[in-house]
Amino acid sequence: MRIDILTLFPHMFDGFLSESIVKRAIEKGQVVINVINFRDYSTDPHKRVDDYSFGGGAGMILRPEPIFACVEQIRTTDSLVILLTPQGVPYQQSLAQDLSKEKHLIFICGHYEGFDERIRSLVDLELSIGDYVLTGGELASMVVSDSIIRLLDGVITKDSHINDSFQNQLLDYPVYTKPQDFRGMKVPEVLLSGHHEKIRAWRYQQQLKRTKERRPDLLEKR
Ligand code: ADE
Repeated sequence: MRIDILTLFPHMFDGFLSESIVKRAIEKGQVVINVINFRDYSTDPHKRVDDYSFGGGAGMILRPEPIFACVEQIRTTDSLVILLTPQGVPYQQSLAQDLSKEKHLIFICGHYEGFDERIRSLVDLELSIGDYVLTGGELASMVVSDSIIRLLDGVITKDSHINDSFQNQLLDYPVYTKPQDFRGMKVPEVLLSGHHEKIRAWRYQQQLKRTKERRPDLLEKR
């Protein structure tokens, strides 16, 4: 998979790209990520990318030209162009699964007060990562990319995400490691039993219980 991220703040991605599972996926060639500063596509002599809002109003608005020029240069017939905005479709695991099957994702990160409405005509999908307003789409694009990259073939073992929370609209079951007794808090007996069928049944019961307690809305969707 290839992911191109259009932003005015490329250094925000330095840590994201250089640590942990995302770093390893890049090194192994499972994903190619390009962070592109769309200011480079501005034809303005001062490389300005924003301007005042017609009709008045506070704040500067991103102009369409640099973003159009950039997307038109990098998009192919295999590309899906995604705009990060609080007005987008609420992001969830089922979308991560769908998007992990794409060949090429282009993320557009808005910033400042907003972007010219005509930018919307360029995009295939608008995504929101939650009902709150961030200073820009950068963190949202990292959240979405991270959740997709871990689903790509070979990035983490299949077992690691087969029981993920939200898979089948259920939260994850509790897990334990050593020590067996920590300050009087004991690992449930069944997990020490070696009885795989009983363990599987216990975990499923725990998923149901946890989801009922914490996210009954998920059970209603099932
Ligand atoms: N940009 C600003 N806030 C956002 C949000 N909640 N989701 C996606 N992009 C955003």
